[in-house]
Formats: sequence, structure tokens, C-alpha cells
Amino acid sequence: LDNGLGRTPPMGWNSWNHFQCKIDENMIRETANAVVATGLASLGYKYINLDDCWAELNRNSQGNLVPKASTFPSGIKALADYVHEKGLKLGIYSDAGTQTCSKTMPGSLGYEEQDAKTFASWGIDYLKYDNCNNQNINLQQRGQEDPATWAGSVGNSWRTTGDIEDNWNSMTSRADQNDQWASYAGPGGWNDPDMLEVGNGGMTIEEYRSHFGIWALAKAPLLIGCDVRSMSNETFAILSNSEVIDVNQDELGVQGKKVKSKSNLEVWAGPLSGGRVAVVLWNRGASQASLTADWSEIGLNPSTVVDARDLWEHSTASAEGNLTATVASHASKMYVLTPK
Ligand code: DGJ
Repeated sequence: LDNGLGRTPPMGWNSWNHFQCKIDENMIRETANAVVATGLASLGYKYINLDDCWAELNRNSQGNLVPKASTFPSGIKALADYVHEKGLKLGIYSDAGTQTCSKTMPGSLGYEEQDAKTFASWGIDYLKYDNCNNQNINLQQRGQEDPATWAGSVGNSWRTTGDIEDNWNSMTSRADQNDQWASYAGPGGWNDPDMLEVGNGGMTIEEYRSHFGIWALAKAPLLIGCDVRSMSNETFAILSNSEVIDVNQDELGVQGKKVKSKSNLEVWAGPLSGGRVAVVLWNRGASQASLTADWSEIGLNPSTVVDARDLWEHSTASAEGNLTATVASHASKMYVLTPK
């Protein structure tokens, strides 16, 4: 969507993956505090996004959505003011149907303009729009199927997959489904393979590194889905890797893709600004293996000599013709190649 927003993928935090419906204004404020205090905000994580379950079951007599009194007693405007004072932005959630997926609050069907005005009056910066209970109205426009093909005219990102779960199989299949839509992504509109599970406990550190690296390469929204108030040092180290974030936020805005796959040994790559190339060597097999990316597979002339920057080791080495590394099971290596 050409509205000046989303020129690079959005970065922030969303309540759903860790908390589901167990959200309230105190933990959202504490989350905003933690995003600033840990330094995540200055790395680009700007959006604090409420997901489902923030409103009362019924609208008020004027037909307005009402923040749930038991969990958001101060109201959403006060929360937006709080988040804004911290230099962050507040996102909210609604749904194209009669009720949201949780069925604990109304959707915006028939109230689209009224709800948009309510959100604007509260100072909301970002809307996630779900598609449960949509009464099968106008499916073509509301688009259950293949949002990548149409959502770029109405939004700055769109889901390409069902909900992620905090495990290896779910994460890898989201990565693969999202990969099919790569050509639809670019500045202003991004494919979304769903929010990050990094730090939620269901994958190993190496699996979470692979998750974060592939999401970054695929120009996915980087929406943290763990409890940042209590994340481990390992979780923080992944989410705060500024070299990986820089790949995601590169101004060229081309989604990196899977360019080779053989026996679960995969090469993912994509172009960056300045003639650079981002590469992930991803071992999805059950045992350690040697992986190679040939220049011809990743868009470089075979004779090109590059500086290969290892984004997890933070070291640089010269390479010509190909890049080869030994990679542990479910682990990955991520590089930025800069032609000399
Ligand atoms: C389905 C979405 O895909 C999830 O991310 C989350 O927003 C839930 N609905 C909330 O009910």
C-alpha cells in the first residue's frame, strides 16, 4: 500500500503468541518499558501491538467498541498516550466478521468506518485485521484465499500462512508456504509468515536462530512474540542481532528466497542494496552436514571475490566462487556478501 508506511517490514511486539487472551494494561505497559529498557526499541522494535481479547463482548449503546473494564480500566487512549511517551507506537486488533476469532469481542463487520474513527481518536498507529466469523460475505474482497494477490492495495503486510506454533515443524512449514509469494513483497507491502516464536521455549537456540534469520531474509514483519519482561540472554541475543535486523530492513526490500534444496540441506538468498547478497545456509536435516552456496545460485558472477560477513559469529572472511560451511542439525549460518 502506497501510504508512506511499511517501506521496510514492521518491527515490534504482539501479545498473541505468548499471552493469547491473558492481556491487561499493566503487562502491556511493562512490555513497553522492557522494550525500551533492553534497547530493543532503539534497534527498531517500535510497535506494541494488542491482539485479540482487548474489548468487552458487546458494543455500547452508540455502537462503539468498549475496552474491557476488568483488564483495560484506563482505556486504550491512555495506553496509547503512555506508549507514545516512551517513543513507541500502539497497534490494535479487529476482525472482518461479527466477532473476532476468540469470540470474546465484536468484529468490525458493518462498523468498519465507526471503528476506524474510534481507533484514530485513540491515537492508534497500526491495525491487525483478522478474518474470523465473516459470514461468508464478499469473500473475494475480504479475501480468505491468497491475500498476497490482493492485500497490497489495502494493507502494508498480509498473512501467507495459518497460525504459527512454537515448534520446528510449524516454523519450517510457515517459512516454505511464505516463500511461494516472494514476488508480491516490496517496499510498502510484505508477506507475513506469522509472528516470531523466539523465546517461547518450544525450540532450541539454534532453531530459533534459524527462525529469526529466515524471517529477516524473507523480509517478514519482525514482531516479537515472547514475554520480553523475562526473556533470557540467549533470546535477547537473537532478537537484538543488529546485523540480521539490517538485512530485514535493507532499503532494497527484495524478499530472499529458497534457491536450493537437496536432502533437507537448503540455501536461501536474496539481493541487498549496494550489490550485496544475503545468504542463509540452513541444515534442516537430522545430522551435521556440509552446505555450499555457489555464486551462480545466488546471483553473483562466478569470478566475484567477496567479503563474507558471518552475521552470528560477527567475523569476516574472503570468498570466491562459493561459500561452504559445516552446519549442525537444524542450525543455520547467515552471511552478507559484499563484492570487493
Ligand atoms: C488468528 C490469527 O492468525 C492469530 O494471529 C491471532 O490474531 C488469533 N486469530 C486471535 O484470535
